[in-house]
Order: sequence, then C-alpha cells, then structure tokens
Amino acid sequence: MAEVNELIGGYKLRTLLQTGQTSQVFEVVEPHSNRHFAMKLLLPEASSDAEQRRALFNEAEVGVKLAHQNVIRIFKVNRSPETPHFIMEFFPSGSLRLRLQAKDTKFIREHARKIFKEAATGLAYMNAMGYVHRDVKPDNILVNSLGDTKIIDFAISKKPPTGFARWFHRKQRPQGTPSFMSPEQIRDEILDGRADIYSYACTLYELTTGRKPFTGSTQGDLLSRHFTEKPAPPSMYNKDLTDEFAALIVKLMAKKKTDRPANFHEVLMELRKIKIYKDEKLDADMEGEFPGRSSPESAAKDTPNAECLKCKFKWKVRPTEGLPAKCSKCGAPRNQLRLIADAKQSTKEPPARPDPEPNPEEGGQKIQPSPAANSAPINPDDIDIDSL
Ligand SMILES: Nc1ncnc2c1ncn2[C@@H]1O[C@H](COP(=O)(O)OP(=O)(O)O)[C@@H](O)[C@H]1O
Ligand SMILES: [Mg+2]
Repeated sequence: MAEVNELIGGYKLRTLLQTGQTSQVFEVVEPHSNRHFAMKLLLPEASSDAEQRRALFNEAEVGVKLAHQNVIRIFKVNRSPETPHFIMEFFPSGSLRLRLQAKDTKFIREHARKIFKEAATGLAYMNAMGYVHRDVKPDNILVNSLGDTKIIDFAISKKPPTGFARWFHRKQRPQGTPSFMSPEQIRDEILDGRADIYSYACTLYELTTGRKPFTGSTQGDLLSRHFTEKPAPPSMYNKDLTDEFAALIVKLMAKKKTDRPANFHEVLMELRKIKIYKDEKLDADMEGEFPGRSSPESAAKDTPNAECLKCKFKWKVRPTEGLPAKCSKCGAPRNQLRLIADAKQSTKEPPARPDPEPNPEEGGQKIQPSPAANSAPINPDDIDIDSL
C-alpha cells in the first residue's frame, strides 16, 4: 500500500481519504505549485489485474471529458504498470453514505433541496454529454458542509451505443449496485439517462427515509423486486415528507422508463414545483428556486434570456437547465419557446463531443451482480456494491 509522504507520479501523498476494495483515494500535493489534488490509485494487488485497470482508466477517460461544477473534475491519468492512478480535483467533503451512516438526518434535511438539485444538475450534464453514470447512489455523491454537491466514481459510466452500433450490443452480466439498479440496467439493456433517474430516485428515497426502497434476503430476491414490487411511498416512513415529493419519487422509479420523466431537466422542473418537507420554508430569497410556484412576473426579475412566442412573456432560465417543457405563464409547449440574445450561448446544452468512445465492454468490474448466482445470503440492511 502507498504511504503518506511517498511521491507517486510527481505528487506527494498527503492524507489517505479512503481505502476501497481495489483502490485508495489520497489527498496529494503537486510540489512545484503546492496545489492540492485527489489521487485515485489502484491497490498493488489490483494494479496488475486487467479488469481493475480498465475500470480505473475508464473512469479517468470519462472524467477528463467532463467539466461541470457538480461533477468531479479529472485532470490526468497515469498508466504506470506499478502505480496506475488518476489525478482529480480535491473536494474536501464526505459522501452521502457517510452522512447516512452517521445518521446525520439533520444535515441531510437542512440541505436536501440543494443536494438533490445539484446532484440532478450534475447528472443532467453527464447525460447531455452522452454518458450514463450507471452507479448513482449515496456513496458516489460528495457533499461538503455547505451542501455543495459533486458526482463521483465513473468506473462503470458509459456512452451508450448509437446508430448501427446498437445492433452489436450483446447482453452481459449486469453491472451496478443492486439496491439502486433500474429494471433495464438489471436486464443489461442499452441504457439512457432514465436509468440514472431511477437510481437517483432510489438515492433520494434512502436519504429521506433512511432505508432503501427494496431489500431482499438474497441478491436475486432483491433484484427481482425492482421488476415486481411497487415501492412504498417514502412518506410512509417519514411523515415529514410531503405527498407530492413521495409521489415524485415513486414516479421516477417507474418500472418502465417511458413512464419516468424524459431527462433530468424535467426532474428538476418537477422538483422545483413541490415542497420536499411539509415545513419547508419558502422565503423571498428562495423564490427563484421555485419558479414553478412563484409568479411568472417574479421569475422574470432577472435579466431575461428566454421568451414565449405565444404570450411574449420573458424570463430567465439557468444555463444548465435550458428551456422548460412549457411556458410558466400561458403553458405554451417548448416548441413555442426560444432563447434570446447572447444568452443563447449559455443556455445551450453542452454538445456531445465526438470523443473516442470508451470500449463499451470496459470498466465497472467492482460490481457484477449475477442474478443467476443468487443464492448468497445478503444482509437486507446492507446491500450495496461493496458487499457483493
Ligand atoms: N475528488 C475527491 N476529493 C475528495 N475525496 C474524494 C474524491 N474522490 C473520492 N473521494 C473519497 O474517496 C471515496 C471513494 O471514492 P470512489 O471514487 O467512490 O471510490 P470507489 O471506487 O472505492 O467506490 C469517496 O467516498 C470520498 O470519501
Ligand atoms: Mg464509489
């Protein structure tokens, strides 16, 4: 194992942040600039394992193409035979799994809206860049004490094949985390962002109720519930949640992806219209966070960058979110809305870059649940990737 103060790839290891099954994450310092980064380094026993190397390099290849404040930035990869690693932005924080383990419901509740929004915004960006994260869960969302949120861990993230390449998709053993996998991910179908929406909803479910939507006495039992069982509304386990929020979570967890919102922009719109907790306060400063419920006039206070061609109403849209599904004043559909002036530039979704696609068969070996081998007993309270 690497030691603190050791120099790897020109970086000085400073603090060990986490040891996982196959890798370690360190805070590191670049000596000449004194800048701090994080390094994900394969453990010695994994560094010669082709599958683990592929997963690490897949994560790095995906990460270097992404630049968004709610997605961790990856800067470079080092394919050394002994110490394969990549360098990423250092984000002093902890995962939402840690908050759950610490039963820090006060923190989660206080920052729920910000965390849910930022996680969805990061995933909206990833999906718009063509990637499906495929492992959305509390463990892979970092949140600092202010509630600033970043998505991490792209080990099994993929660009789904398009066009002719779809014909060559061969089903394999599914990859992911059983408690958070959509039915189509368990079937190893070609995924789109709606698979991440399902996992995101399972994540919000656990964050707001302290329990996963489904449990099972075996892995197969657990996986089958994603197909057969309707989740109990989260408000059943947490009376402080509103029925609207509970209904939204259940909708995002629809078995058929066509019954879910089409993308995270729609999820964000829905989330904005409702209260999460019954006693959630909406003060004047937060009004902009709830344009679905604020008057159209107040939403238009900021410099407008979008216009409804039907009723001529102008308002401000956020750069990451683009045009809404309909005009918040007259209800005209999106095809009647337009971006105006140079705001056009900032509201455009990022273009899918023609980057070389990572080998679709690469990566993500840290979890390969095998529904066939479903006899291993599982602790229903602790079913997650690392235990499988
Ligand atoms: N960029 C980062 N900055 C700070 N801590 C990080 C960073 N990336 C990962 N970590 C820490 O390492 C843990 C594991 O990271 P992750 O990428 O999910 O690894 P694994 O492959 O073991 O699941 C995170 O929960 C977090 O505590
Ligand atoms: Mg992880």
